[in-house]
Amino acid sequence: MSEAQWERRLTVTTAEQTHALAAAVGEVLEAGDLLVLTGELGAGKTTFTQGLGEGLGVRAGIISPTFVLVRIHPNRADGPRPGGPDLVHVDAYRLESAAEIDDIDLENTLDTSVTVVEWGRDRVEHLSDSRLEVDLHRSVGGTATADDVMDFDTDDDDEPRTLVFRGYGPRWAEAPRPLDTTSPEKGN
Ligand SMILES: Nc1ncnc2c1ncn2[C@@H]1O[C@H](COP(=O)(O)OP(=O)(O)O)[C@@H](O)[C@H]1O
Ligand SMILES: [Mg+2]
Repeated sequence: MSEAQWERRLTVTTAEQTHALAAAVGEVLEAGDLLVLTGELGAGKTTFTQGLGEGLGVRAGIISPTFVLVRIHPNRADGPRPGGPDLVHVDAYRLESAAEIDDIDLENTLDTSVTVVEWGRDRVEHLSDSRLEVDLHRSVGGTATADDVMDFDTDDDDEPRTLVFRGYGPRWAEAPRPLDTTSPEKGN
């Protein structure tokens, strides 16, 4: 499954837009879905996951799971999708191989949850025949500028991001509706 079936490239200008876009995607996710998030430290992977959690209606408190490999956020009975899938949030940064991924038993929760893996590329593809990849770039259009490279600020100032979505496998034969209808500017 090396070829993506489609690609969508969207530009956002604030963290709130990243959150809102992810929330719209979260509304259409289903149990069994696997999402692989790629992007440097501070690109917005956790911000994106928080938005997914809102759209899914899971219990709040999504934080960077860096010191805990896996966090399970149960779906809320009083949320927008009661009875919907839980969110399993994984940080695979310190896991070096697919074998180490297998040790954390994501298979147990995969079928009943949405599984979102930060730093999952080349580590989790074997878990499912389908996956939605999301690459977050701190520069617009995917080309880093000198300013981006020199910008080591860790504050919360809003900056543009380019989000690139790619679908693999039967589940993602077509792009989910929010990627075709949300307001952030589209490019391709
Ligand atoms: N357009 C944007 N999208 C997402 N985050 C942004 C954006 N602009 C600024 N930020 C900030 O960048 C940081 C991203 O942090 P985080 O989501 O934890 O990244 P990661 O998980 O990729 O390391 C947050 O402080 C967020 O407020
Ligand atoms: Mg993170």
